[in-house]
Amino acid sequence: MSAAPRFLVPFEQGLLAPAESLLVIRPAEGLGLSGFDNVTIEQGFFPVARALEAAGFSVVPRAGGRFGMVLVNLTRSKAENLANIARAAAMSTGPVLVNGAKTEGIESLLKAVKKVAPVEVLSKAHGKVFWFAPVPMPEAWQAAGAMARNRDGFITAPGMFSFEKVDAGSAMLAPCLQGLKGRVADLGAGWGWLAAQALGPDVSEIVLFEAEHMALEAARQNLRDPRVRFEWADVLALPKQGPFDVVISNPPFHQSRAADPALGVGFIHAAAQLLAPRGRFLMVANRQLPYERALDGAFRKVGMLAQEHGFKLFEARNPKA
Ligand SMILES: C[S@@+](CC[C@H](N)C(=O)[O-])C[C@H]1O[C@@H](n2cnc3c(N)ncnc32)[C@H](O)[C@@H]1O
Repeated sequence: MSAAPRFLVPFEQGLLAPAESLLVIRPAEGLGLSGFDNVTIEQGFFPVARALEAAGFSVVPRAGGRFGMVLVNLTRSKAENLANIARAAAMSTGPVLVNGAKTEGIESLLKAVKKVAPVEVLSKAHGKVFWFAPVPMPEAWQAAGAMARNRDGFITAPGMFSFEKVDAGSAMLAPCLQGLKGRVADLGAGWGWLAAQALGPDVSEIVLFEAEHMALEAARQNLRDPRVRFEWADVLALPKQGPFDVVISNPPFHQSRAADPALGVGFIHAAAQLLAPRGRFLMVANRQLPYERALDGAFRKVGMLAQEHGFKLFEARNPKA
């Protein structure tokens, strides 16, 4: 078996030929696309989008128009995947390919698509690639991925962090956000709930830094206030800016499926760099994640405000940076 990425196998075996234009939805970095001309990439996750741009690809957060072929790479959200398959079928004049691992639910998506269209399938490396000629997909698939008001009254969509309701960790941080003053930054702001709690009368500006483009679009709808700025950005690689009086965060802890404390550690360092010398960092984290050393390394004063329901709440002051 060749070492080529899974989606390339049907091309290598002569079952498919490259079309005159290709749209690739949600690829990871370094997908082996070198044999294709005229490639557009849809990637809303900022760090991956920038890496693909640096590799010479044309990248958009959300694609529109028509393409000779569309390749959908799966995310962990079934509703988002169904919506992307439906969008791909609407945008493609040729085959639609779906590429994913078993852990991303490729089997159940294959079953669903088989009910709507004749499908070709190849298996490789704990996953599958399947393809079909575009036909109209069930309307419910597009609708399943659409933005809608969640049970807390905020606009969200499947695939976003805690899209159905406010995260328990964020809810625990919220009471500490009353009465904030000056310039505030929210690192990994998602669809904007924490920032909305922080936006009291004495806040002069709040900047939402978020890597997922869709989540930031939702936040734009949730926070209609002239003091709010939205930055599609990688918190781990922010250009120098600020200083901020307060930084708040419920940092991400997953890179794909595995818990990755390095992400939160990177957010702690970013907070220290953004803050004014007398600034304050308020952070909530899962109890089992080891952030104490990073906080002590980056700030002169660190305190734990609370520890309950599986979360720890930290306040760190006076960055060493
Ligand atoms: C734990 S969630 C918190 C979301 C939101 N603040 C809340 O309370 O619901 C972390 C957020 O960080 C975002 N994120 C992940 N990696 C990031 C990065 N490198 N830069 C900026 N945001 C990132 C995720 O998309 C996610 O929305």
